[in-house]
Amino acid sequence: MNKRIGVLISGRGSNFEALADSVAAGRLPGAEISVVLSNREDAPGIEKARARGIPARAIPSKGLEREAYDRLMVAALREHHVDLVCLAGYMRLLSPHFVAAFPQRILNIHPSLLPSFPGLESQRQALEHGVKFTGCTVHWVDENLDAGPILLQAVVPVEDGDTPETLAARILREEHRIYTEAVRIVLEGRYRIEGRRVLIHPAKGPEKK
Ligand code: GAR
Repeated sequence: MNKRIGVLISGRGSNFEALADSVAAGRLPGAEISVVLSNREDAPGIEKARARGIPARAIPSKGLEREAYDRLMVAALREHHVDLVCLAGYMRLLSPHFVAAFPQRILNIHPSLLPSFPGLESQRQALEHGVKFTGCTVHWVDENLDAGPILLQAVVPVEDGDTPETLAARILREEHRIYTEAVRIVLEGRYRIEGRRVLIHPAKGPEKK
């Protein structure tokens, strides 16, 4: 049976599209994206998912306490029998209820080399701090902001002429690449976690004769 991925978004959804492209191209063997959920009704990623024939819906959070809202999200993910949750530009902190519902099965992508520049506008934070290199991080999600064990990172140089937008575009290309790689490692079970360290086992090479 395929491993079922649920993708949570709040906006554009380019990381969702990169994962969907990878599934379609066979770069994530044995995986399918079962559902895309958004906390925002106007998230362009919802239509992009539907256009690919992937069930997608918004669950608006207005007026709901964090946990009450997360109970709805968890129920929707369970309805679609999701094995792995991928946050892809999902701009909400998860409650302990949500995290406990999918133990070590929630990943997030963040546009900086964590623990530098967590939270919002990470690319602007990097420019304002004056770092010469930044990048992106795929990590497991816990109830703290951008804080769980780090699975993969990619380094991106900062150029003198960068604006937050040009830097974000350079980082995004790496995001799209490492999110697929991270999901593949997780679905293949090719890692172990020791404390905060995630140790990755090499992919199996071709059988030797
Ligand atoms: C991406 O850059 C992602 O890393 C970031 O939001 C963007 C979403 O783009 N996520 C965060 O900042 C989470 N803290 P997308 O909707 O096109 O994937």
